[in-house]
Amino acid sequence: MRVENKIFQKKETIDRELERLLSRGDSLLFQAMRQTVLSGGKRYRPLLALASGECFGVLEDVMLHFACALELIHNYSLIHDDLPSMDDDDFRRGKPSCHKSFGEDIALLAGDSLLTLAFEVMSQAPLEEKLLPRKEKVIREISQLAGIKGMIGGQFLDITLSPEKITEKEYYELILKKTGSLIVASLKSGAILGDASPSQIHSLEEYGRNIGLAFQIRDDIIDSVKDVQEKHPPRPNAVSLFGLEKAKRKLKTFVERALRILEEACLESDELCYLASNLLESKSGSENG
Ligand code: IPE
Ligand code: IPE
Ligand code: MG
Repeated sequence: MRVENKIFQKKETIDRELERLLSRGDSLLFQAMRQTVLSGGKRYRPLLALASGECFGVLEDVMLHFACALELIHNYSLIHDDLPSMDDDDFRRGKPSCHKSFGEDIALLAGDSLLTLAFEVMSQAPLEEKLLPRKEKVIREISQLAGIKGMIGGQFLDITLSPEKITEKEYYELILKKTGSLIVASLKSGAILGDASPSQIHSLEEYGRNIGLAFQIRDDIIDSVKDVQEKHPPRPNAVSLFGLEKAKRKLKTFVERALRILEEACLESDELCYLASNLLESKSGSENG
């Protein structure tokens, strides 16, 4: 089967499962959670998780719990990122952001509930008794990478580092944390559950760091050409730091490095290759803005 079709099928599986997970309530809070999660994300992180799990023979039914949990965590982070006290964004995926539709109070709670739901979903992953230590390890890994040493630490740097004074090194640290962490967590969860070797885990981590850098630089480039007036104070970004042309070259370099790492580690996954090289396409098939 062509790699695009495999990715399409996995995305459908993820979307169906997210729909199922969010089908058990009708309060306004539930509507806010549903409207955000089911508003058409690219599902990049869960796709990475499923592709990584497949590399190491993890059953899709098991992997799906972690893949969806990662997408729920990602969506909580987007709701909070858009709040007036953060990036103050009125739109997300081309639609009114959660606080614009439901108010700040409900948006805060919707984010909180998605984060908590993610851990409930992971705890329900059906693993045999003897594989439970792996489940514990993955949950620990995801907690750390989503928390203060990872994604939240990155969000903190995003709002505290001055865009005028930021160095290249600080910018990379920031985006590796705010965006790279969850991408690395997605890849490592498949590898840990599939009992990959330490060197395979290391290679996937390096691949993840490189696509994480590429992913955020690409996002910064896309944001820089959008014709919208930002309401929040300027945030550090690749285009103001490097200029547009250099930012594009950096994006390409990180994608090439990621592909080389896969090749050198003999991690033969057409899906992981595709998910890296697709970052160089100006508009990917599953893009929703
Ligand atoms: C946007 O993430 C926020 C970043 C970390 C750059 P995505 O580009 O993955 O957003 P969706 O989920 O596809 O909308
Ligand atoms: C969002 O980063 C990162 C997280 C939510 C962790 P950005 O602020 O750069 O992404 P967009 O532009 O809002 O999607
Ligand atoms: Mg933002």
